[in-house]
Amino acid sequence: MTDLPPRAADGHASASGTGEIAFKRLVEAYQDPHRLYDALRERSQVSFDAAARCWVVTGQDQVRRILGDPRFVSDAALAMPGMRRSPRRTFASDAIQKQIIFVDGEKQGRVQRAVLTELARRADALGPPLKACAAALSEQALARGSFDLVGDFAVPFTMQAVSLALGVPVGTPEEMARLERWSTAYADITSGYLHARMEHVVQLGDFIRMHVAARAGTPSDDLIGAFLRDGGLDDEDDVVIQCMGVYAAGRVTTQKLLANGVPLLLPEWDSWRELVRTTPSALRRLVEELLRLVTPTRYVVRYAMEDVEVAGGSAGDVRVGRGERVVLSLEAANRDGSAFASPHSLKADRQPNPHVAFGFGPHRCPGASVARIEIAVALQALLETLPEIRPDPSQPPAWDPNPNIGGYTSYRCLCG
Ligand code: HEM
Repeated sequence: MTDLPPRAADGHASASGTGEIAFKRLVEAYQDPHRLYDALRERSQVSFDAAARCWVVTGQDQVRRILGDPRFVSDAALAMPGMRRSPRRTFASDAIQKQIIFVDGEKQGRVQRAVLTELARRADALGPPLKACAAALSEQALARGSFDLVGDFAVPFTMQAVSLALGVPVGTPEEMARLERWSTAYADITSGYLHARMEHVVQLGDFIRMHVAARAGTPSDDLIGAFLRDGGLDDEDDVVIQCMGVYAAGRVTTQKLLANGVPLLLPEWDSWRELVRTTPSALRRLVEELLRLVTPTRYVVRYAMEDVEVAGGSAGDVRVGRGERVVLSLEAANRDGSAFASPHSLKADRQPNPHVAFGFGPHRCPGASVARIEIAVALQALLETLPEIRPDPSQPPAWDPNPNIGGYTSYRCLCG
């Protein structure tokens, strides 16, 4: 386990050891990182990783403070004015850099509001088709007696949801498989996992562009229509890029929540069924508790625009230097014992539940309302339809190696 010293207020690592590797360990230990976080947090909410040259923030309090502090930004170039970006711009590189997740200021606020307003307006209308989709997928699983929680449920369900929100067709199973591949590649690269193929980013762009172009002059009652009407975006490419951002950010995260969250319910499936059947508010609390425990986006990154003194807790203050990278572990903050009693347990009655699974501050997830509906609808359908569900011992689960947003890619279950 890493024993990481906090950096001294003079800006230098305060300990004798060199090559501390909190971030590297965090990335490597991504299937079971919590002992590492607990040890880090005991020393300080904010630790410096000398090897990766970044700060790692593990305390709930400091995660919120930094995410809400305008001196910390998502666009690295704002914090490092001398930073050079490749002069060779392509659609694929723009598709990564220009999505609002890496933009700060007025434009980001405008696009955020367009997504928030449109999704809030459409949230109720999404309920009935999503319920029908979740019920059909659960009934198919019951009829077959076995299913892949990811491939036969989480993927088709979340594809349906994000397609409805944006206003694009889900397509045939082959088209759906291609869109899944392309949007996963785009989300991988966006999250800093650079093992994906750039051509998939272009292919996702081509798919979205076709649907943006088809609306030329015809208002549509969906998110593409809202971007064209009120997004104040630069040109067609910009509309395509913001739609791609929503498609990937909205699909991959919700898929991971279901793929990694439902297995946590299997040991006491019967009790969860009973609880959700008899106590209407239990489902809402369960959604929040799974968001907290799974935390689909494990961490987000910010850059300091100037030197900032940050309270590290009992270990004292630290100074984050201008241009330095700060990795905010949402997953660690969601298991911070000072914010949550029994932080590692799944508690049906946890309330309040101030998790930061959707982030915090100006970049806070604008899709949270739709995500909550999706997760509730999916859980309800599975709990209502499947009297019994257990992992298939003959087919072990498979895991996506992306250390930030990767989750199960297959989780085969037997059901009855
Ligand atoms: C369980 C599901 C979801 C989780 C856990 C999640 C998590 C997050 C987090 C943590 C951020 C903040 C990133 C940052 O601060 O750098 C974010 C941003 C974003 N999310 Fe979600 N999200 C989910 C579902 C959705 C859905 C359903 C949509 C849309 C349909 C969506 C669209 C977006 C967009 C567009 C952003 C960028 C916002 C900005 O940078 O201003 N997300 N999400």
